[in-house]
Amino acid sequence: ASEYSLRPKRLSEYIGQTKIKEELKIYIEAAKMRNEPLDHVLLFGPPGLGKTTLANIISNEMGVGIRITSGPAIERAGDLAAILTNLQENDILFIDEIHRLNRSVEEILYPAMEDFELDIIIGKGPSARSLRLNLPHFTLIGATTRAGLMTSPLRDRFGVIMRLEFYSVNDLSEIIKRSSAILNIGINDEAAYELGRRSRGTPRIANRLLKRVRDFAQVKGNGFIDFETAKDALDMLGVDDMGLEHIDRKMLKSIIEKFSGGPVGIDTIAASIGEESETIEDVYEPYLMQIGFLNRTPRGRIATKLAYEYLNYSIPE
Ligand code: ADE
Repeated sequence: ASEYSLRPKRLSEYIGQTKIKEELKIYIEAAKMRNEPLDHVLLFGPPGLGKTTLANIISNEMGVGIRITSGPAIERAGDLAAILTNLQENDILFIDEIHRLNRSVEEILYPAMEDFELDIIIGKGPSARSLRLNLPHFTLIGATTRAGLMTSPLRDRFGVIMRLEFYSVNDLSEIIKRSSAILNIGINDEAAYELGRRSRGTPRIANRLLKRVRDFAQVKGNGFIDFETAKDALDMLGVDDMGLEHIDRKMLKSIIEKFSGGPVGIDTIAASIGEESETIEDVYEPYLMQIGFLNRTPRGRIATKLAYEYLNYSIPE
C-alpha cells in the first residue's frame, strides 16, 4: 500500500484538527446548498500536518475536480494563465508552498481570485494590447508553512484562513491504528501510543515511523508490534523519548555549547550545524518551541531550562 492510500478521503475519516473539520463542514454544506464554489481557503502550519490531504478531502466533499501544483512550479504568468483557463466550473486549484510564487504570477492571481477574470497582455512595445478573459468559477486552496511569509494582498484575498495545529498523542495513536489496519500491520494500543508519543505531533512522521517499526518487527520479532518492539525499534532509529531526532539534539546542543544557550541568530545556528535556515524554521523549530525547548526572541533563539535538563546539562547561574 502506498502513502496515498493512508490519506483519508472524507472529512469523517480525518482524525484530529476538530475545529477545522467543524468549520469546513459548515462552509462546504453552505456552498453546496447555494451551488457555488467554496470561498478561497488558506491552510497554514508546519509540514506533514495534512494540508494536501485536506485539499483533496474538500474536493471529494464538494464533488469537484482538483488541480494540484506548487508555488515554485509556476514560473511565469503564462503558466498560471494556462492552468486557470483549463479549470472546469467550480474546480479547486491547490497551490502548495504558495508563498514561493513569483511577484508577476501573484499579480495574475489577484483579479482571478476576486472577479474570476484573467488580464493578459499580448505582444510587446507600442503594439501591445491588454485582454480580459472570463475564467470558470473556482476555489483556490493555498498551503504554506507560515502565513507570515505571504504578501498581505495575497493573504487578504482568502475568505477562509485556517491554522493547522500539532496533533495530540491520542489523535496520533488513532491515526497509527487506522494506518496499521490499512497496511495489515498487527499492533496493540500500548505500542500505538508509544509511536504517537514520539511522532512530534505530526501524522506524516507517525506513518513513516510505523513503517520502519514494522520492518523491525518482521526481522527481529514475529511481525506484531507490541510495546517492547516499538520501543526497541524507535531507540534504534535514534528517535528519543520526546520524538527528537539526531538533528534536533545537534541544534539544541550547538546553541548550548557554542553559544552559551543563546540568544543566537538563526543563520548562525544554521551555519554551525550545516542545515538551511529555512528548513530549521519550517521543520525543526516549530516542534521544539511547542514542547518548550526553544524560545524565539528578537535577538535570536534561546535554549530553555527544559532543554538543558532534558539533555543533561547543568543550568548556568
Ligand atoms: N493519515 C494521515 N493524517 C491523517 C489524519 N489526520 N486522519 C486520519 N488519517 C491520517
